[in-house]
This record gives sequence, structure tokens and C-alpha cells, in this order.
Amino acid sequence: MDAASLIIKFHVIFFILLLVCSNSNSTLAMAANDSSSGGVTNFSTAILIRVDQSGQGDFKKIQDAIDAVPSNNSELFFIWVKPGTYREKIVVPGDKPFITLSGTEASNTIITWSEGGDITDSPTLTVLASDFVARYLTIQNSFGTSGKAVALKVKGDRVAFYGCRIQSYQDTLLDDAGRHYYSNCYIEGAVDFIFGNAASLYERCHIHSVAAGAITAQGRESPLENTGFTFLGCKITGTGGSTALGRPWGSYSRVVFAYTFMSSIIQPEGWNDWGDSTKQSTAYYGEYKCYGAGANRSKRVGWSRSLSNEEAAPFLTKNMIGGRSWLRPAPTHFKRRSTIVTPTGEN
Ligand SMILES: *[C@@H]1O[C@H](CO)[C@@H](O)[C@H](O)[C@H]1NC(C)=O
Ligand SMILES: *[C@@H]1O[C@H](CO)[C@@H](O)[C@H](O)[C@H]1NC(C)=O
Ligand SMILES: *[C@@H]1O[C@H](CO)[C@@H](O)[C@H](O)[C@H]1NC(C)=O
Ligand SMILES: *[C@@H]1O[C@H](CO)[C@@H](O)[C@H](O)[C@H]1NC(C)=O
Repeated sequence: MDAASLIIKFHVIFFILLLVCSNSNSTLAMAANDSSSGGVTNFSTAILIRVDQSGQGDFKKIQDAIDAVPSNNSELFFIWVKPGTYREKIVVPGDKPFITLSGTEASNTIITWSEGGDITDSPTLTVLASDFVARYLTIQNSFGTSGKAVALKVKGDRVAFYGCRIQSYQDTLLDDAGRHYYSNCYIEGAVDFIFGNAASLYERCHIHSVAAGAITAQGRESPLENTGFTFLGCKITGTGGSTALGRPWGSYSRVVFAYTFMSSIIQPEGWNDWGDSTKQSTAYYGEYKCYGAGANRSKRVGWSRSLSNEEAAPFLTKNMIGGRSWLRPAPTHFKRRSTIVTPTGEN
């Protein structure tokens, strides 16, 4: 395929994606906020880097493509990853904002690594940069059931994931710090598998528990912190033992489930104080208009909340993460950069 037809193919693919995004939620198309533009002036155009294991792209490894983005870049970079299983441990460093990493389908574009132990060192993908976007990727830590093994750590501000599969067992997603948006993602694990102290909105995600444990362990430490996890229009399924919706990693842990289907995998008590009853009065655990066998609140712990319309309202929009100012559609124009696209750029 020559460059011209590649670009045309991209236009078609992303025009379709754009239609999907704008149909499903119009606020995704809000204009950029100057305070988060970081010097980027044209959000419709990105520099394209192709990663292809067959050697026909600019790089064979995803990390090499990220390394090729200049420090303090002031243009969007769109790294298009061809289908394949990439056995890599990847870091997006803090000085490289505005990178999008995109597969075409999560089922065939897989980033996988196997490492357990420390939550800081184990992640398969670590995002330290702001304004990062991932699309249609599987991000997996295949370490298994014998300890902490993070698949994805997100520490940058204004980071979004669309249509990704995030898989491990214990501590799958370290949703560490910053404001994040997860749309149509599949997240799998058993123990505390969505944890950290970010402010995040999970919209239309499928949360799948593979053994007894807890879904969330949100880490808010003080009532002054503006962090917490909201699950909006999600679906919770599972196999194996009974699962709690959450337990407080931080004393002021804050989690809300709204309009979410809960299968019988959710234990009747719903929430767990992690063996510290003082956290019952400081954690904020709410449910709003959820449904399914696991959503029956008749045996819920008394310190969890059934939210009123007024109480739920702040958690039901992207304002919770300031999303109107930074969530934006994928670029529609792509250009190459001669400094990146060289025959020796392959490795
Ligand atoms: C951008 O965000 C900042 C701080 O959140 C706000 O003060 C400013 O009014 C916003 N600008 C626009 C154009 O929305
Ligand atoms: C952004 O780039 C596209 C494609 O090069 C161009 O058509 C458009 O006018 C640019 N927009 C701005 C605001 O410069
Ligand atoms: C990138 O920006 C940071 C902070 O402004 C600065 O310390 C660093 O030297 C810059 N790096 C380059 C390569 O310009
Ligand atoms: C909720 O559970 C209680 C007790 O197990 C039961 O009596 C009630 O019918 C259930 N409610 C619904 C809506 O299924």
C-alpha cells in the first residue's frame, strides 16, 4: 500500500470513529481548552507514526515509536499500531504529552508482559504524560494469580481510553493520579483491580471479576481532595466467588456506581471497610439507579448510600473530570515527518 492510499484509508477509518463518538456522546466533541492545549494549535492534524511487527511501518516496537516523539512536543502524535502481540513493557514519559496510541481492534492488538510484585514496577503500560489517549488496545499483565501485577498505571492528567481491554488478576488498573476517562473499556481482575487516587469517569465499561475480591480500592485521603471513581452505565459480571464493589484504600475513598448492571457476583453487603470501622464514616460509597441481582440494596452495609437525584447529579456528567475542556475527537488529518520516517528508523 502506498502512502497516499494509507492516508485515505485512515481518513475513512477515523471518519467512522468520529461518527461513532459524536453519536454516542456529543460532549466528546467539545472544543479544546486553552489551558490544556500545551502549545498544540491544531487538534485536527497529527503526525503519524506506524508500528508494524512485519517491518513495513516506521518501527517494530511501540516503545521505539514513543521514544521518537520529541521532548515537550507541541504537535499531536498519532501512533498507529498494526495488529499483533507486542511483548513489551512500555512507558510514556512525562515530557511527551499529546500522544495517541491506537490499534484497530483491542482483540487483535495486544500489549502484554508478565511481571508481579511491586505496583510501581510491574505495570505493562505506564502513562506519566498528560493528554494521552489510547484506543482499541489490549493491555495485559499475564503474571497470574500469585500477587500484585499491574497491567496499566495512569499518572498523567487528562488521559482517555476508548475501547481498550485491561487485564490482570490483582491490582489490574492503577488509576493513580489526574483526571481520566474510560469509555467502552473491558476491565478484568479479582482483587482491588481498579485502584488509586485519580478522578475518573468509567462510562459504558464492562467490569469482569474472575474470583472473590473487590472491584475498587479508591485512594482518596482527605475530604479536600477532588478525586473519586464514577461508573456510569457500566456492566459488572464475574465468575467465582462473591465480590465487593469497593473497599477504602484511602480513608476518604469515594466511589459511585450509577445506572450500572450488577450480576449476582456482587455480595449482598456490597461494600467492605477493609477491617477498619473508622473508615465507615469517612468513605463515600454511593449507588444510583443500578439494576440486576447484585444491585439489591436490602442487605447493603448501612454506611453505604443510595443517592438521591441531587446527590447523584455531580457524578453523572463529564464535569466531574473537567472533561468538557479536554476530551476531543480523534484527529482527521495525518502527516508524516521526515525526521521520523527514515529507512534506518526500523529496528
Ligand atoms: C479552561 O479551563 C480553565 C480552568 O479549568 C478555565 O478557567 C477556563 O475558563 C477554561 N477556558 C475555556 C476556553 O473553556
Ligand atoms: C488544521 O489542519 C488542517 C489540515 O492541515 C487544516 O485543514 C485546518 O485548517 C487547520 N486548522 C487550523 C485551525 O489551523
Ligand atoms: C522540556 O520542558 C521541561 C520543563 O519546561 C524542561 O525542563 C526540559 O529541559 C525540556 N526538554 C527539552 C528537551 O527541551
Ligand atoms: C431484594 O432482596 C430481598 C431480601 O433478599 C428480597 O426480599 C427482595 O424481594 C429483593 N428485591 C428485589 C427487587 O429483587
